[in-house]
Amino acid sequence: MFTSGFSSVKKITTHVLQEMKLRGEKIAMLTGYDFSMAKILDDAGIDIVLVGDSASNVIAGHKTTIPITLNEMIFLASSVMKAVNRALVVVDMPFGTYQGNSKEALNSAIRIMKESGVDAVKIEGGREVVESINRILSAGIPVMGHLGLTPQSIHKFGTYIVRATEKEEADRLIEDSRILDDTGCFAVVLEKIPAKLATRVTKEIKIPTIGIGAGSEVDGQVLVLYDMLGITQDFSPRFLRRYHNLQEEIKGSVMSYINDVKTVNFPSKREQY
Ligand code: KIV
Repeated sequence: MFTSGFSSVKKITTHVLQEMKLRGEKIAMLTGYDFSMAKILDDAGIDIVLVGDSASNVIAGHKTTIPITLNEMIFLASSVMKAVNRALVVVDMPFGTYQGNSKEALNSAIRIMKESGVDAVKIEGGREVVESINRILSAGIPVMGHLGLTPQSIHKFGTYIVRATEKEEADRLIEDSRILDDTGCFAVVLEKIPAKLATRVTKEIKIPTIGIGAGSEVDGQVLVLYDMLGITQDFSPRFLRRYHNLQEEIKGSVMSYINDVKTVNFPSKREQY
């Protein structure tokens, strides 16, 4: 079993993540949306729990991440926070709560911090959101960036294909990563971009890069929990490694339960008072 050089760390902070990058220790991040799962992730030793707006898809059943609200994200984040002792907990700022108006961005981030107690927020985008990031940082709230495929902009992209394969978009992404670094973000997610580009960004910027579909030469990896556990089955990008087939296992258990109830095999004598 892999044991981290930081296994004795009581609480992962943004400072600890920076140290991990410097010593070449990879950062493991997963999404989490509820108390019970977050407790398992934290007990297992995950470094970062991301209360991702992918909750819009896997929890709320929307087709995109766009509809999920600030109140819904705060509800999920405060449930996760009650379970986590060691991991750094980051919350996605949902669509419409930070774009275009940095004062509104700060108010949204303050609500997230006060009402859920998490450690940091995540914002999608580069130069176009830097004013919002600056204002949030000025209130002492750590910010994680997110470049490459940014799902909140799906209607602009029109598709979930790999981003920044052309020079112009790749150059813009490199410049945006430098801007996020200089602005004071503590880390940046790189989603679905060529591995070579992610490697270059990782070498050029001081803050840790966390990849999803960005190759192995980034500082850490993130996956959506429901995808890596095989609870969702209709989403199979090349970068996704499924560690389990929980959909089958859960279905099997539910079918056994139904059968036991129908045949009065449950409850048994030992399972009643
Ligand atoms: O919302 C999410 O789950 C994310 C990850 C895919 C990085 O942003």
